[in-house]
Amino acid sequence: MKVTTSGFLDTGDIMIIPVFEGSNKAPNNATTNLSRSASISVKSAFASDSFTGKAEESLSVWTKNCQVIIIGMGKKDDLTTKKSRDTGAKCFASLSKNHGTKIVVRYTSGWKINNMIAFTEGMILRDYVFDKYQKKEEDDKGPWSLIGQTAERYESAFRSAIENVYSVATGVHLARDLGNEPANKLYPEEFGRRALEWAKDKSNVEVEVWDYNRLKKEGMYGLIEVGKGSIHKPCMVFFRLNPNFDIEAEVPCIVGKGITFDSGGISIKGSAGMDEMKLDMHGSATVFGLFQALYATGYTGRVNGITCMAENMPSAEAYRPGDVINTYSGKTIEVLNTDAEGRNVLADGLWKAGELNPSYIIDLATLTGSVVVALGHEATGLFSNNKLLSQKIQNVGDEVDEISWPLPLLPAFEKQMTSSKIADLRNQGKGRWGGASQAAGFLKQFVQEREGKSQIPWAHLDIAGTAGIWGGETNVTVSHGATGVQVRALHLLITQG
Ligand code: BES
Ligand code: MN
Ligand code: ZN
Repeated sequence: MKVTTSGFLDTGDIMIIPVFEGSNKAPNNATTNLSRSASISVKSAFASDSFTGKAEESLSVWTKNCQVIIIGMGKKDDLTTKKSRDTGAKCFASLSKNHGTKIVVRYTSGWKINNMIAFTEGMILRDYVFDKYQKKEEDDKGPWSLIGQTAERYESAFRSAIENVYSVATGVHLARDLGNEPANKLYPEEFGRRALEWAKDKSNVEVEVWDYNRLKKEGMYGLIEVGKGSIHKPCMVFFRLNPNFDIEAEVPCIVGKGITFDSGGISIKGSAGMDEMKLDMHGSATVFGLFQALYATGYTGRVNGITCMAENMPSAEAYRPGDVINTYSGKTIEVLNTDAEGRNVLADGLWKAGELNPSYIIDLATLTGSVVVALGHEATGLFSNNKLLSQKIQNVGDEVDEISWPLPLLPAFEKQMTSSKIADLRNQGKGRWGGASQAAGFLKQFVQEREGKSQIPWAHLDIAGTAGIWGGETNVTVSHGATGVQVRALHLLITQG
């Protein structure tokens, strides 16, 4: 989608006029440049009883060259950025290209700038389909274009905000593309290849891939053991933005779980819904998408990313329950369930992150079914050893509507995970209760301390419930599949300093 801003000039093929409750006449500028007859129709629509401006209301007015859609936003003082974003997304989803692809949105009286930005953002985010494996329609009408129209005094601020939103959305859409790719097309080495390709023509970006041999040399058996059962061998991918900037400084390191398919391995899953496990690399997709978003918005700070890529398959070469893993940290893990694989690969990723002089570490993982039991699809589970970091993640999540909800990291869970009789850790808790907290308690063992002092500030985001939409879930910025969750929140966290 091409997005621009202007004053109330063009009328477009489709003109959207979102207005507030109590609008019984057309706001100033609503009908500017419409033909006389179109203008009369639109004005009568506003005056009619069938439109009052309540939320969820919409009215289409057909004029000769332009479909005018009036949308109710409810009471002006009740409007939030979330409501604006969601309404923009839903409105976009309802449009048809039959009448042309040029959309104009008119933000007339009463619109505050943050709400205009969010409404436009909703439209941009929703403009996404994953159709690369489908036959193209014969009468493809080409991409949408969108013009956001405002009063002159808002225009320059609105334009630069929309440029930023658009750039961030390229990262969200990339994360969705990666998440939606089936596991036979996107496996660990292919993810690495795409990352290298992405970095190739960007001078302030570096990508490095550690292949199977390198992982062996480094002793990263957390990643190796999980991935060795597949013909597609595991790898670790490093993302570096502005690698030469301020090299002494502590900078954020973002780590992603990248299981390109999680069959469960020898502890194999049931077949119902197993196809969804192609999305088990969404943590890594978010990391890649975040780097794209940071790059596209021109962020000048240094940031590190690590993704732990493996395919969890059963085979004669697969790891087994009962095996002991020698992780990169030197700590050993007793495998009780090969389906608790995400924590094994993250053990190596988190320990490595601790070597990169991080200001903080955030990991993203579709880690547990338990977090979905706890929070449904409404929020990402947030675990942290640091109150300030946790609060910041909650704040940015609230702001962009990618909610993170704090869950406890209690000593009792750590104790369960460190009570193996034959190794330092066990990869499964002692019962099914508190499974998401058990997993977090396990991960915490792989967060390094700073010079023997306190642990590096760290947060773990369990995105198992928020990474994908397979039914009628509530994230209206996506219609189906991968959501690209946490790209926008982490982009805001990092760029706001
Ligand atoms: N990838 C799954 C978790 C998951 C479940 C993600 C549903 C998305 C939707 C993870 O690897 C897993 O299998 N976790 C197990 C852990 C258990 C064996 C200790 C789980 O949560 O059941
Ligand atoms: Mn699993
Ligand atoms: Zn998994």
